[in-house]
Amino acid sequence: MRLKLLIILGGLTTSCFAYLNDTDGSTHHDGIYGGEEIEPGSRPYLVSLGKGSSGLGQFCGGSLISKHAILTAAHCVTEYDENDGSLSWNPPEWVELHRHNLCDDTEDFVRVHLDQTQCSGDVVFHPEYNGTTDDNDVAIVFLSNAIDDIVPVILNSDPNVPAVDDPLDVAGWGEVDDGSYPVIPSSVTLYYLTNEACMSKPFKWGWWMITDNMMCAFAKKKSSCHCDSGGPLVLGKAEPEGGPMNPVVQVGIVSFGIKKGCALNRYPAVYTRITSVIDWIRDTVCGRTGELCKESKRKRKEGSIRRAKSIDGMECEELPEYVPPKKWKPAECVAQEAVIVSMTRTHVEPPSKPGKPDKKPKSGKSKSKPKSAKKHMNIFGTL
Ligand SMILES: *[C@@H]1O[C@H](CO)[C@@H](O)[C@H](O)[C@H]1NC(C)=O
Ligand SMILES: *[C@@H]1O[C@H](CO)[C@@H](O)[C@H](O)[C@H]1NC(C)=O
Repeated sequence: MRLKLLIILGGLTTSCFAYLNDTDGSTHHDGIYGGEEIEPGSRPYLVSLGKGSSGLGQFCGGSLISKHAILTAAHCVTEYDENDGSLSWNPPEWVELHRHNLCDDTEDFVRVHLDQTQCSGDVVFHPEYNGTTDDNDVAIVFLSNAIDDIVPVILNSDPNVPAVDDPLDVAGWGEVDDGSYPVIPSSVTLYYLTNEACMSKPFKWGWWMITDNMMCAFAKKKSSCHCDSGGPLVLGKAEPEGGPMNPVVQVGIVSFGIKKGCALNRYPAVYTRITSVIDWIRDTVCGRTGELCKESKRKRKEGSIRRAKSIDGMECEELPEYVPPKKWKPAECVAQEAVIVSMTRTHVEPPSKPGKPDKKPKSGKSKSKPKSAKKHMNIFGTL
């Protein structure tokens, strides 16, 4: 049984299933809904992050961004406790590259085991990651060996990209329409919409929920879902062809969605916006590996990965270790039906827009929360 299922059944949240309660009901971290299985090798930059002895220990996705670095979400390496709002340290044990079928260990995949030590190990997350709002939901996993046979994605640095309605491709091993977790990744084409559109009718995200460091992508009855988290959202080809553009340009990281369910037409899936976090990514990867230095403020010669505490100037906050529930058992390689306890919550009506409806601040300005929003937060405890 897959790790994530056991944890869900145990009533706890694991990385790919962590979620936020909010005034609109609640949100969850994001399988692909409405998607199709991908061709083996069609998205070589897509990697699997997981724990345990089986490939089914996969709980998040990621993307190769340089020979020694994988990009993923911060919530894939931490655990958020919704009761007290605390974060704990819960990094993946391994990264798998060239993976397709999670059950087929005869595949020619590469599993890289990670040093899980905080600060000085292989996994770092954004110093301003906020587990409550999921702002700056980005993390980097460093690989001790260089990956030379996969072309890394290009990180989007152009704030004008994507443009409204641009097709985007997202893929992962996450939950699919029937609620099960597949062993082969699916992909879907979604379309970019502005943050303003994402928080306006007919959509129901509260206007303070989608920060400038996030972005939305939408298509009816299609979405990323649980355990796609951390995976890449890339510029896509127009349908019916679909699929990633070549070269592959990553614009987002799968972050969260509404907890009531994936692909609900009022709640577009939300992604970390690459242009907002690209400086941190480049500086961190450059400082550590000498890669991605060209546009980084740091300068370091390309070379092997530095292992010791080397993220110059970056604060590393020590978090308590995540203690897995006692019920945890090693995974068996059988795909399971998902029993999504946490998605059976009662529906909570979205809050009325704080203040006068048309006095919504323009994005780009600081969004101070009006009192009425705060009141909602107090009622529901989070966000
Ligand atoms: C979030 O929702 C869950 C499920 O309803 C509830 O048990 C929990 O107390 C809530 N957490 C907060 C912080 O409101
Ligand atoms: C996260 O964001 C919330 C809402 O803006 C804020 O109240 C809280 O202090 C932030 N937490 C951290 C750790 O920055």
